[in-house]
Amino acid sequence: MSSAPTAASAAPDTVLVVDFGAQYAQLIARRVREARVYSEIVPGTTPVDEILAKNPAAIILSGGPSSVYEPGAPTMDPALFEAGVPVFGMCYGFQLMAQTLGGQVDNTGAREYGRTQLHVSRSGSTLYEGTPDEQPVWMSHGDACSAAPEGFEVTASTDVVPVAAFENDEKKLYGVQYHPEVMHSTFGQQILEHFLYRGAGIRPTWTTGNVIDEQVASIREMVGNKRAICGLSGGVDSAVAAALVQKAIGKQLTCVYVDHGLMRKGETEQVEKDFVAATGVELKVVDAEERFLNALKGVSDPEEKRKIIGREFIRVFEQAQAEIVAEAPGDQPVEFLVQGTLYPDVVESGGGTGTANIKSHHNVGGLPEDLEFKLIEPLRQLFKDEVRMVGQELGLPEEIVQRQPFPGPGLGIRIVGEVTKERLDLLREADAIAREELTAAGQDSQIWQCPVVLLADVRSVGVQGDGRTYGHPIVLRPVSSEDAMTADWSRLPYEVLEKISTRITNEVRDVNRVVLDVTSKPPGTIEWE
Ligand code: XMP
Repeated sequence: MSSAPTAASAAPDTVLVVDFGAQYAQLIARRVREARVYSEIVPGTTPVDEILAKNPAAIILSGGPSSVYEPGAPTMDPALFEAGVPVFGMCYGFQLMAQTLGGQVDNTGAREYGRTQLHVSRSGSTLYEGTPDEQPVWMSHGDACSAAPEGFEVTASTDVVPVAAFENDEKKLYGVQYHPEVMHSTFGQQILEHFLYRGAGIRPTWTTGNVIDEQVASIREMVGNKRAICGLSGGVDSAVAAALVQKAIGKQLTCVYVDHGLMRKGETEQVEKDFVAATGVELKVVDAEERFLNALKGVSDPEEKRKIIGREFIRVFEQAQAEIVAEAPGDQPVEFLVQGTLYPDVVESGGGTGTANIKSHHNVGGLPEDLEFKLIEPLRQLFKDEVRMVGQELGLPEEIVQRQPFPGPGLGIRIVGEVTKERLDLLREADAIAREELTAAGQDSQIWQCPVVLLADVRSVGVQGDGRTYGHPIVLRPVSSEDAMTADWSRLPYEVLEKISTRITNEVRDVNRVVLDVTSKPPGTIEWE
């Protein structure tokens, strides 16, 4: 890869979230941003001098699955607490802080999971000012802190743990045993804001409007008078990335829409019409269906499919680049490729936290080694809801900004088995029916997304009319989620499921069963591949 600079630069007041367990850290980072303070995640294994070298305005130690007593559990260099940087420990981070600073953490066996009542013992404290003396909080721990370190004041307890929160205003060190970042901790956001504004003295100035201004300036500087291309997938991320780059460099950007034949029904038309109408962007449509289908011939392994699709994407872009240059000889070269990579993609691909690679997201892990473009990834530090806000501010149509997520590799990873044109057509029909019925039933805002999956390698016996059938099952995978890191299956009304099932089995050839996926994430992922 020639180089992969990111267009984004850290804001001056950055809060670093030290990650001892990926899901918690991401949620905390989002909550900090909701408090209008910029935040980034660093792995729990980052040496303290490296953390401090980033000059953070404050540090948050996240929760995590370990016990401070476990051999090999993450530890913390005491130097972190002596640097004068405000620190807030949560759950595991709290216990680590207690133990490192000389407090007492006991393996009491008194486990506390779920909703618990917190008794605040000093309501005028930095963290609890203006919140009730009794408040519900979300607990998840086995160990308990029985004595705070010297110099700390205990400001809350529960029936099970004597020290559920402690504060040291002089050293600007704070900690809570529970998870203030989860919804069930009713005053959690307020307590986090108290830490940020009162404890750490940070002013809430970060907004998605700042992101647009910063990105526009940095993209202009990076691109200069060169040109860029952007792949549009029809999804929110690439649309917002393209609109942002277009705002920065106007006609120096050409968008390329690769019709890889793995799109859902009507999606190509949406890009060709709505997006162009809203932005006035230059659009080149490449018909690459045959190429993708040939490359995918005989391939059933999900990771291999993802890698092939990612690779072919880039190849088609390179070809499009050559064509764009050839069509306008004498112009500046096309040196940059815009990608709508988001922060969770970066984290899940192992780039943010050093956590395990779960799937190769086609826009991060699947890039070939010999990529000939420099990347512009203006959304690399943003969460999905923030991307939608940026899109709204840029004036993109609601249908694009509020679209449910759709994976870059498209229907290619929703066919379990080999991908063929015939199977894609069949899945497109089933998917269109499910989408139509969900919209008609007013379910779009209730669910995060609803993958419709074809089990192409499975057949089952059915009966239709007077004849025996031997068709494929279609899986409905409606999920509710806040960020796709975790998800629950959506409890759709039976009548809606019935309607979808009846229509799919009646209208889609070769499908004789519709089944519902009732698995949360974890253990399942949202997509089947
Ligand atoms: P999983 O299946 O990992 O999906 O639980 C989490 C979210 O990511 C989407 N997804 C992708 N998006 N490129 C993308 O742009 C990909 O390769 C990809 N794989 C999964 C998925 O639809 C869900 O919203």
